[in-house]
Amino acid sequence: MSAGDCSTVTPDVDPGGVPFAQLDPALLRTQRTSIKWTRFPADVLPLFVAEMDFALAPAIRETLIERVQASDTGYLDSAGPLAEAFAGFARDRWGWEVPHDRVHLATDVATGIVEALRVGRPAGGRIALTTPVYPSFFEMLEEVPFEVVEIPLAINDPDRAPQARLDLAAIEREFASTQGIDAFLLCNPHNPHGIVHSTAELTELARLAAKYDVFVVSDEIHAPLTHADEAFVPFAPLAAAAGALSVTTTSASKGWNLAGAKCSVIVAADEAANRVLEQLPPEVAVRASILGLHAGVAAFSQARDWLDRVVAQVQANDELLAGLVAEQLPGVRYTRPRAGYLAWLDFRGAGLGEDPHGRILEEARVALNNGAAFGEGGAGHVRLNLACAPDTIVEAVRRVAAILPSAR
Ligand SMILES: Cc1ncc(COP(=O)(O)O)c(C=O)c1O
Repeated sequence: MSAGDCSTVTPDVDPGGVPFAQLDPALLRTQRTSIKWTRFPADVLPLFVAEMDFALAPAIRETLIERVQASDTGYLDSAGPLAEAFAGFARDRWGWEVPHDRVHLATDVATGIVEALRVGRPAGGRIALTTPVYPSFFEMLEEVPFEVVEIPLAINDPDRAPQARLDLAAIEREFASTQGIDAFLLCNPHNPHGIVHSTAELTELARLAAKYDVFVVSDEIHAPLTHADEAFVPFAPLAAAAGALSVTTTSASKGWNLAGAKCSVIVAADEAANRVLEQLPPEVAVRASILGLHAGVAAFSQARDWLDRVVAQVQANDELLAGLVAEQLPGVRYTRPRAGYLAWLDFRGAGLGEDPHGRILEEARVALNNGAAFGEGGAGHVRLNLACAPDTIVEAVRRVAAILPSAR
């Protein structure tokens, strides 16, 4: 199923109708206080952390104002209306039927992953990640007693149009090895390449997980941002059909830019997984934010058109970046995302040496994510954020192009 009726982009305004002139980084820096705007000096263009420059969806903004005006700022103990809102979105967008009692609340997706692992595999063991992958996974896993096993993605056609996929043969080798694998952290869709895993790939992963008794945590935070001509496949129904133990961690925080609202869900794939999640300490739900819960309800139920316009803008920005890379960044290879707003760029052939990220930050004054932090295969790459005004991307490429050896 596609991401709905994907609107085309409207020139000069963001997905909520706010003029791009109001998303000028110099202006945003005076208005916002998140790490995107405070970590680096004012002359650095910040395109690193996965936050959007777009203004919040009006329905979410109004919901938050309304809750604050009602002084509705107390505690929670369950997903309540968020379970229904998420289930409605999952059914309408992906055909996934989610019984409401399988939806559990957590502070954010990072916490959901850690808490799910604590109850799913209390003794810890060996956990597999497919790298390069979202760097905070490595940090989260320091909170649980797991040894991390990296299974590199398979990269097809690296010289022209790189395409990364799960390496299912390598995954099976690790699952079947003498030491085995106890848990698998699936990034679905995959950050940083924006890979949408296919039904066939995920069906095979579910079969392997069932066969080798591997607990799969599927992080689906980027799923709402699947591009309009691509079909996202939730892992849970496939896990349930295969008899694999699995939970899904997700939230509205990436799709609707609500990281600071601190509310996520952990969804059991079936009754067996739900019995595992019923072991979550009650405090896991209590630590979620009531403002985040109401923002999430508004996102999943009332801000779908806004989301579609975000996806359309991100796809337009991806197209723009692909053209700019071809014209101005010789030697750089761009893995085009099929979901999400992150662009993965291979700078190993661009002549900036071993640490292109450092050179780009110091000399071009553009802050990107350093590929070296994404695990095996990430060094020499950078990750760039496409959820901004097109002019911001043009300016970032202009600055980077000016420091390439070919410009001198
Ligand atoms: C794959 C993935 N998982 C989790 C997170 C963090 O989510 P949260 O802020 O809800 O913990 C991110 C943030 O970019 C992400 O890309």
